[in-house]
Amino acid sequence: MAEPRAVEAAVRAKLWDGPTRLVHWGLVVLIAFSWWSAETGRLTWHRWSGYAVVGLVVFRIIWGFVGSGSARFSRFVRGPAAVAAYFRTLPNRSPTDVPGHNPLGALSVLAILALLAVQVVTGLFAVDLDGFEGGPLSDRVDFDTGRRFAAWHELSFTGIQVLVALHVAAVIFYLVYKRNNLIGPMISGRRSFARDPGLTFAPAWLALLVAVLAGAFAWWVSKGLRF
Ligand code: HEM
Ligand code: HEM
Repeated sequence: MAEPRAVEAAVRAKLWDGPTRLVHWGLVVLIAFSWWSAETGRLTWHRWSGYAVVGLVVFRIIWGFVGSGSARFSRFVRGPAAVAAYFRTLPNRSPTDVPGHNPLGALSVLAILALLAVQVVTGLFAVDLDGFEGGPLSDRVDFDTGRRFAAWHELSFTGIQVLVALHVAAVIFYLVYKRNNLIGPMISGRRSFARDPGLTFAPAWLALLVAVLAGAFAWWVSKGLRF
């Protein structure tokens, strides 16, 4: 009689650390709030929410170099050949076993972070039409330049809307077509793998240190880069 085929036991293991998840859901809330506060003319709240985005983006960039394995850029950012190879496997309906961002998703992570940086920098120099409201660096440029920054600020927000729509569409594609729920792990931090991916996680004190640095930077930005 043939030996029964060994079924590999799935293991549940931690994938995303707390700071990465907090940054993610923090960005979701703050971007929605920034949008609403700008549209309803609450510019003081808009600026505060913008500084919080500065803090989260700076934290995430530093965390991408010193943080946990699955958050590190060096772990998930790959060259064009790996992106193309991954792209060809997309029609395959089986869930992928990549422990973290896949090579294509990595591009979207970088693009979102880069556009968020453009969004906050243009906001810092932007002035409104009557020149009463502006970012904390708008006094360093003349009115016409401040208005140009405001136009770029609006344009870059359109770009963010497009990227976020694509991002959510990709997450739904994985959920429906590939039967791969990526949302659960971004909430709980844990996911099932065929075998333990052996990821490493950064200590809490390091997250705290980076959070203090990022917070101090955002505060300095809010003061118009003046002490
Ligand atoms: C303003 C809206 C959003 C922004 C700016 C955003 C941004 C990002 C970024 C930067 C990452 C990379 C995470 C990291 O490594 O730090 C990410 C991952 C992720 N996001 Fe979002 N996100 C948004 C909305 C959403 C929504 C609404 C959902 C749920 C439907 C979602 C689900 C996910 C998931 C599941 C991942 C992990 C993807 C993977 O497994 O590779 N995001 N998002
Ligand atoms: C995620 C971060 C941000 C988002 C999503 C965002 C989004 C927006 C949007 C949608 C508008 C309205 C554009 C329009 O229709 O005219 C706006 C206006 C504005 N934002 Fe932001 N913003 C962000 C960060 C910031 C920051 C950090 C500052 C500066 C501290 C800032 C300063 C301004 C100013 C001064 C205006 C008014 C410009 C005008 O009246 O044309 N924003 N922002």
